[in-house]
Parts: sequence; structure tokens; C-alpha cells
Amino acid sequence: MAKKSIKDIQLTGKKVLMRVDFNVPMKEGVITDDNRIVQALPTIKYALEQKAKVILFSHLGRVKTEEDKAKSSLAPVAKRLAELLNQPVTFIAQTRGAELEQAINEMKESEIVMFENTRFEDIEGKKESKNDPELGAYWASLGDVFVNDAFGTAHRAHASNVGIASNIKDSVAGFLLEKEIKFIGEAVDNPVRPFVAILGGAKVSDKISVIENLLTKADKVVIGGAMAYTFYKAQGKNVGLSKCEDDFVEFAKSLLEKAQGKLILPQDTVVTKEFAEDAEARVSLTSEIQDDEMGLDVGPATLELFAKELEGAKTVVWNGPMGVFEFERFAKGTIGVCEMLAGLEGATTIIGGGDSASAAINLGYQEKFSHISTGGGASLEYLEGKSLPGVACLNEK
Ligand code: 3PG
Repeated sequence: MAKKSIKDIQLTGKKVLMRVDFNVPMKEGVITDDNRIVQALPTIKYALEQKAKVILFSHLGRVKTEEDKAKSSLAPVAKRLAELLNQPVTFIAQTRGAELEQAINEMKESEIVMFENTRFEDIEGKKESKNDPELGAYWASLGDVFVNDAFGTAHRAHASNVGIASNIKDSVAGFLLEKEIKFIGEAVDNPVRPFVAILGGAKVSDKISVIENLLTKADKVVIGGAMAYTFYKAQGKNVGLSKCEDDFVEFAKSLLEKAQGKLILPQDTVVTKEFAEDAEARVSLTSEIQDDEMGLDVGPATLELFAKELEGAKTVVWNGPMGVFEFERFAKGTIGVCEMLAGLEGATTIIGGGDSASAAINLGYQEKFSHISTGGGASLEYLEGKSLPGVACLNEK
């Protein structure tokens, strides 16, 4: 990548403003998945080893009201980070002001200060999320250099990434951001072929640009999840009660024509009469879905077909589950694809964040993939071929 890295600048003794994506899932103040914190550790540790004064900040959730504020403090995240690093993290419950400024001024080398959720600034006038110029300039004034390691937020042009970068001389990428761009960027722009993309999830409308872009880049685009039913309808099949976006049937038709055999659709589907965890289910050919049935997963013949399509693949990108994997009965497709990719030899396998990433991590396959992205929206936008503002704002090498 052509962006400057944290390794390209001098950190010793410097106040390093480090944007991380610690937007982790929480339940009643308890972190339920700390993967994003763990993935940021190499950059933080490196800066500490270089004797930098590390000032960390992140958003957490979307903050629109005082109630949102009450449940989205970063304090539990600071605590978890201190445990993972085995070193104190001074948490300042402010996003600006005298207490924060004093804490930063009193920092010694290799110490960490973390400040409160950047989106607390959104309450009055969406300052962070609107990239308020005064806010970006203020945060930039707190440090000497800026390191962006928040790939998960790189599709946003906010004060805490783009705003700071436009007010500070040295703006560079952290290791996680570099790794994400390396894997996803190389897969899309310079893949070792054959390159197979597997796309799932609920809506064609969410993935239009991804499908269009990947059809120009990949050798095969495999479709699963509820998205597939819009394509069946485009083929004139009955989809019964399955999720289907009627407004996108014509678009699906045009994609099928354009794809000229590159788009691979499921052959069979697991259907049921009600959307429930314990609903009775049967496997149906995609051409035989009844009026009172809905498809909630891909079937076994489809998994065989997908395995064949993946034979010999050298690069695979997967985004989106194959069915309603939250229900055990309808999780076999997603688990099957996960196992298939985990066992693929000699291939670079990448999961583009979101639900498929959580599925792979929860199933214990984390180590079996070349890369599991920490960014859902960001990796999708990258797969669409868009430029990410949080990356674009960093200094060129
Ligand atoms: C994410 O979880 O995708 C990122 O942290 C970005 O969060 P956002 O969609 O609320 O901007």
C-alpha cells in the first residue's frame, strides 16, 4: 500500500494520537467479544516499545441521546485493554477539556491515556460524525502525530480520523489497518487466480455494488443467503414466502445476463412454514418451493456445488451468511461454507467482516483463515471498489 506506516515515523517521546475501532459488542456493560481490542494490540505495543505517549480514542455505538451516552462509555473497554496489556490505562471520562489536557501533559513515555467515546460529541450537532472542523483541529492539537488503526471506521469521514489527519503533519497507518488493506486490497485488485467471491446475507439491495464490482474482478461469484431468492424470482421460479426484494428482480435479471455463467446460485434450499428456531424443515430443490414455504438456508446439494466451485481456488473472499445461522436448524449452510474455506489448501481465504466473521470466530475457525476483517461496513465498501476516507486521508509514502 502506498500509505505511510507507523514504522515510517519517529515515535520516541512523542504524543501519539491513535484512532482505534473499539466499537465492541456489549451486553449490560460487559464486553461480549473483544476481538477488535485484541487486533489493535500489535500497534499499541509497538508504540509503547518505541517509548511513545499513547493517546487512544474510539467511538462506541451510535450516540444520539443522553440515554445512549449512559450505555456507551468506553470505561469497560479501557479496563479490558489494561488487562490484555498488563499495564495501566488512564481513562479520562471526557472527550475534551482541562482534565484530558492535563492528563496528556503529565504523560510519561510508554504510558497510555484513553479518552471517552468520540461520539459523545455528537449529542450537540453531530460534531464527530459530521467531521466538525473545530473538533478535528482540537483533537489534533493534543498530540504530535496521528496513527489511524481503525479500519472498521475507515469508511466514515469523521473528526476523529479525517478531521485530525487534515490538521496534523504526520498521519500514518497502524499495523491492523495496513493488514486489512493488504489482504482485502490484494484480493480485489491483484488476486492470485482462480479468485472466488462468496456473498450471502439478506438483501441484494445491500450488496448491489459489491456484486457488480466483484463480477468484474472474480472468476466466480457464489451467491447464498436470502439474497438468492431475488435471483430465483428473476429466473421465473416460485419463492413462496421467502425473503425477496421485488424491486430488485429486474436488476437481478440483468446481473444474471451480464454474469454469463460467473454467478453461481444454490441448487437446493432448506424450507419451512414458519420463521422459528424449532420450525419443521425440509430440503427442497430451488424450483420446488411451495407457496406456503420460505427458504432459510442452503441445502446439501448446494454445499457440494460450492465445494466444486472452490476446487483449486487460490483466493477466496467471503461476506455474508448462507442462511439464518442464528437458528441451529438453519445454520448448516453457513457452517458448511466456513468449514470448506477453513480446509481449503493453498488458498488465501478472507472473511469480509460482519456476520460471517462472527460466525467463523464463534465456530472456532479464527486461526484457519488467512484474514478475518474487523470491519463490516468498511470491508463491504472496499469490496465495492470505493475509496475509504479514513485511509485516503493518510500520508503517501
Ligand atoms: C462498525 O462496527 O462497523 C464500525 O465500528 C463503524 O460503526 P458505525 O457503522 O456506527 O459507523
